[in-house]
Amino acid sequence: MRKSRILGVGHYVPSKVVTNDDLAEMMDTNHEWIVERTGIQSRHWFTPGEDTVTSMAKEATVMALDRAGLEAHEIDFIVFATITPDYFIPGNGVLLQRELNFGNIGALDIRNACSGFIYGLSVADQFIKTGMYNKVLVVGAEIQSSALDKSDEGRSSSVIFADGAGAVVLGAAEADHQGILSTHLHSEGAYAEELYCKDPGSSRETRLSPDLINSGSFFLKMNGNAVFKHAVVRFMEVIEEALSHNQLDKSAIDLLVPHQANLRISQYIQQKLELPDDKVFNNIMDKGNTTAATIPIALSEAWEQGKIKEGDLVCLAAFGSGFTWASALLYW
Ligand code: UT7
Repeated sequence: MRKSRILGVGHYVPSKVVTNDDLAEMMDTNHEWIVERTGIQSRHWFTPGEDTVTSMAKEATVMALDRAGLEAHEIDFIVFATITPDYFIPGNGVLLQRELNFGNIGALDIRNACSGFIYGLSVADQFIKTGMYNKVLVVGAEIQSSALDKSDEGRSSSVIFADGAGAVVLGAAEADHQGILSTHLHSEGAYAEELYCKDPGSSRETRLSPDLINSGSFFLKMNGNAVFKHAVVRFMEVIEEALSHNQLDKSAIDLLVPHQANLRISQYIQQKLELPDDKVFNNIMDKGNTTAATIPIALSEAWEQGKIKEGDLVCLAAFGSGFTWASALLYW
């Protein structure tokens, strides 16, 4: 069966940089706490009226297409991972479709939060493997900053989450030692409310009301401790699942690109896998946690910095709201 491979990768982050000191002016927090607990020094937040999820996704897509040596009209399908779409309806895939010279191709939205990019990559991979499509665009893009409670109450989440977009173009692999080996997807809905944004939900008489707005139920809510505990277990499990599925040892990994949830989580995984620093790529320090966008942004930066070479074994892994978790193992 044919395999798919990443032909090009791109990213975009909004120009506005928010430092930990900036956050300390909005809420009761400080630079030292944020760096010690999360590793984050600064992050990018969108500027209303300037950036949208679609506009950032477009920039990332243009870069990915350029690096793949392709034009928009050569893309057969769009997979768009986001939990922060510009509109409630329709999804972000179609909004991106109208921005570039795509044909009237299909556009699918994926709502699997931090695991969304790997879920999307897996869907795109199946389309290419079966031969249904030859070139698929996979995007992860988020504006999280407008869903954050920037008061003292919301400080544990609002110091982490950030905005940005990343994109990859997937096409058929040409050589044996190339392309996606496998993807592994999981969920456990029992923990849905440990990291969620309740409103505007549809299961109420009126979706939006002054009471609902006053209750703050449209803010992102996270039980950080619970998420952390599950994350470290599931990240390891799903990476080991990918390695054992392909009969590979952890020492074969050339580059691990974990979802940028918290630097402490990445460091824990690195230590468990006994990987040296140059085999793990982190950029949470100046990008924060951009949910579905972290992995494609990190892949794009790692590629730019020459940290991924052709033939390298790259491992992607993510964990987040749902809970959902996922991994992908691929030869670049
Ligand atoms: O990408 C999706 C998946 N998300 C994640 O993986 C996030 C996982 N969770 C985490 O990264 C961490 O749990 C957090 C960074 C969110 C929180 O770190 P923590 O080490 O788990 O802190 P904590 O919630 O246990 O809070 C410790 C203390 C508390 O004070 P007391 O009760 O000990 O007096 C908090 O009130 O730190 C306090 N605190 C803060 N202090 C300053 C919580 N947030 C802040 C803050 N600044 N921003």
